[in-house]
Amino acid sequence: MRKKILVTGGLGFIGSYFVEAALQAGYYVINLDKRTYAARDDLDFDSRDHYEFIEDDISEIKHLPVNIDYIINFAAESHVDNSIMANEDFFHSNVRGVYNLLELVRSKDETDRPKLIHVSTDEVYGTIFDGCFSEVDPLNPSNPYSATKAAAEQLILGWRNTYGLPIMVCRTCNNYGFGQYPEKLLAKTIEFLLSGKPMTIHGDGSYRREWLYAGDHARAILLLMEKGELGEVYNISSNEEHSVLEAVQIVLDEMGHDKDSLVYVENRVGQDRRYSVDCSKIRALGWEPTTTLREYMPEYVKLYKKYLKAKGEC
Ligand SMILES: NC(=O)c1ccc[n+]([C@@H]2O[C@H](COP(=O)([O-])OP(=O)(O)OC[C@H]3O[C@@H](n4cnc5c(N)ncnc54)[C@H](O)[C@@H]3O)[C@@H](O)[C@H]2O)c1
Repeated sequence: MRKKILVTGGLGFIGSYFVEAALQAGYYVINLDKRTYAARDDLDFDSRDHYEFIEDDISEIKHLPVNIDYIINFAAESHVDNSIMANEDFFHSNVRGVYNLLELVRSKDETDRPKLIHVSTDEVYGTIFDGCFSEVDPLNPSNPYSATKAAAEQLILGWRNTYGLPIMVCRTCNNYGFGQYPEKLLAKTIEFLLSGKPMTIHGDGSYRREWLYAGDHARAILLLMEKGELGEVYNISSNEEHSVLEAVQIVLDEMGHDKDSLVYVENRVGQDRRYSVDCSKIRALGWEPTTTLREYMPEYVKLYKKYLKAKGEC
C-alpha cells in the first residue's frame, strides 16, 4: 500500500518541490493549501496520479484526512518584511495553524496518529557571528516572522513532551530554486533584471546567509521520513554561505549584468547579521546537497525566462 502524506502549503515554493519529490518516490500526496498570494500558479499536480488537492487553512480545518501516515507542514507566511508591516496573518498561520495541527494529531488514537514533520527555519536561532548553531542551542528570534516560527516550535516541544506526539522539526536555511515568489532576494533579482529594473540592496548587502537548493531540502525531508528519529530536531543546510551581495553577484554574472544594475537603499529592521547551522546530524543519516548556487543559476534563469515568456511578460 502506498503511504499517504498530507502536505500543507504544497503550492508554495519549497512545498511544491517536496510534493514533486514525494510523488516521484511513490507516495500518495494530499496537498492542503490556502492559496495565498505566495502559492504557485504554474504547477501541473492536478493531472498527476496519487494526488489530491484541498483548498483550506491549517488553522481552520476540523479534521485530518483519514489514514494518513505523515503530515509535512510547510504552510506558513514566510516573508520577514511582510511580518514587520502586518504580523496578524503570521500569528494565524504560523502559530495558530501549528496549534490546530497538533490538536488534530492528538485527537487521534495513539496507534493511528500520523507523524508530523514541521518545517522551521534557521532564523529561530538569531544571529551568530562566528561558528554555527547546533540543534540544542537556544532560540533567539529577531523579528515577527522568526518569533512566530519559534513559538510554533515551542508548542511542538510542549505537545511532544506532554502528549508524546510523534513529531520532528527541521530548521532550514535560505532555500533557492525556480518557483519562489519574487519578494525573496534571488527571484526578485532575476525578475527585476529581466524587466530592466535595477535591483535594490538594503544596507551594504553584507548580511550573511546559507543557501540550499529546494530540491535538496525536499530530499532531506524524504530521508527524515524514513530514517529520522521521532522527537528530534534537525538542521538542514548546505553550509554554502554568501553575503546578500555575493549571492546577487552570482545572478549578475549569469545574466551578464554588472554592479550598475544595483541601487542601495536604507537597511531594513529586524534582520540578523549572519545565520549558520551545524548539519552533522542530518548528514550522518546519509544526506548531502547535490548542487551549489552558482551551478544551479543557469537553470534558474532559463526557467524564469520561460515562465515569464509563457505569461507574456518577457
Ligand atoms: N523559503 C525559504 O528560504 C525558507 C527558509 C527557511 C524556512 N522556510 C519555511 O519553509 C516553509 C515553506 O516556505 P516557502 O518559502 O515555500 O513559503 P511560501 O510563502 O512560498 O509558501 C507558503 C505556502 O503555504 C500556503 N499557506 C500559507 N498559510 C496557509 C494556511 N494558513 N493554511 C494553508 N496553507 C497556507 C500558501 O498558500 C503557500 O502556498 C515555511 O514554513 C517557511 O517558514 C522557508
